[in-house]
Amino acid sequence: MSKKITIAIDGYSSCGKSTLAKKLAKALHYQFIDTGAMYRALTYAFAQQNLVSKDHLDEKNILQSLPSLEIQLDYQPDLEETFVKINGNDITQQIRLPEISALVSRIAAIKEVREKLVKEQRRIAEKGGYILDGRDIGSVVFPQAELKLFLTASPTIRAERRFKELSDKGIATTYEEVLKSLTERDEIDSNRKESPLIQTEDAFVIDNSHMSIEEEMELILNKIKTLV
Ligand code: DC
Repeated sequence: MSKKITIAIDGYSSCGKSTLAKKLAKALHYQFIDTGAMYRALTYAFAQQNLVSKDHLDEKNILQSLPSLEIQLDYQPDLEETFVKINGNDITQQIRLPEISALVSRIAAIKEVREKLVKEQRRIAEKGGYILDGRDIGSVVFPQAELKLFLTASPTIRAERRFKELSDKGIATTYEEVLKSLTERDEIDSNRKESPLIQTEDAFVIDNSHMSIEEEMELILNKIKTLV
């Protein structure tokens, strides 16, 4: 049996990181962790407690509430869906709403939030055989990962893809709103003080603007063959 490695997938918002991660997990029989879902889950919990909104961030009470929040991720490969619970309550659908997308980068910039989630991600995936997608996986969470992928695509193509995905799910939004939201998120994620989104020197960079998912998979599976 070939060695199970750790695969880190980082990149901008809506670059197809989780679509790729799910396909790779299936092909390689690996586990998948959507780390963005963890940041979204905390954001949802804080929004419910009125600790974050469009024009307000109550960092003091966020830090107080943080230790009491327990996140559970359950990725079901057959459904290609990560089920997310916070303190036992299922919030799988809620964390994808545009209002949570609009707030999550501000929560993800808080040092203590990142420390809690990075610790959890390392605990779950330390044995290898995991694919994790996020913003700081190759740079901070698993800098020793055997394969680091950095995905990118043009903002307009990413917005078109995400708009279609949200429309297919029946979520009301417009292309312009999606483009604005993802541009803002990239800006905050790339410029924050704590673990900003960066392209590490050892990452394999893929611009998938004009690539099909099949082409992308072939490229990466060939790369993996050289590693295991
Ligand atoms: O991948 P996503 O869009 O679900 O991520 C939601 C937000 O969480 C995104 O704005 C950046 C942040 N995030 C992060 O800072 N670090 C990660 N490892 C994953 C996500």
